Amino acid sequence: MTREEQHILDASATFARERMSGLHSSHGWDHVERVVYMAEQIASSEKEANLFIVKAAAILHDIARIDEVDSTGKNCHAERGSRIAYDFLIGSGCGPERAELIRNCILCHRFRNDRSPDTIEAKILYDADKLDSIGAVGIGRAFLFSGEVGARLHNPDIDMTLAEAYGKEDTAYREYLVKLRFIRDKMLTREGKRRAEERHRFMVEFFNRLRDEVSGVL
Ligand SMILES: [Fe+2]
Ligand SMILES: [Fe+2]
Repeated sequence: MTREEQHILDASATFARERMSGLHSSHGWDHVERVVYMAEQIASSEKEANLFIVKAAAILHDIARIDEVDSTGKNCHAERGSRIAYDFLIGSGCGPERAELIRNCILCHRFRNDRSPDTIEAKILYDADKLDSIGAVGIGRAFLFSGEVGARLHNPDIDMTLAEAYGKEDTAYREYLVKLRFIRDKMLTREGKRRAEERHRFMVEFFNRLRDEVSGVL
């Protein structure tokens, strides 16, 4: 990493941290710090990955989360964040070529049919971000989020797949059923897959046990 690159990363971290200061902790700066670290770990086993691009993208990947929350989901944080990050990077002297690569990583970290991570750096960010949603950390974040929206610990009386997201019925268990248990199959890098397998196993055990304890089986 050159001094100039380190300077851009430091400025990006200050910018992102400030922009994310109003968020609840399930989607706040702590999450970004873990994603940056995980992205570095995955990048170390992907020889062709550019570490500067990976780190800058990880630091900036959720800078528009607050805009999505404020617009109650209308503004996609990946789309908006990728534009904000690009302008910030150009203003920080990053140069258009590298800024474009970082912009692309941020845009694709939220998988949609019309955009999927197509560079190794984008795949690394995607996997690092997804790993933070499963395993012990993922379980913790799911309950943290439930608490933030005032949801219940568990709610066996409703059809879990129909409960509304972001609502009081949006329990961590529902999140597990409709989303978290499928994440393992979506990983894109070898190291991401390996880690996801491990985290998935623990998470399944936890949620099965939660279901059994709540229902009185255990
Ligand atoms: Fe995100
Ligand atoms: Fe994220």
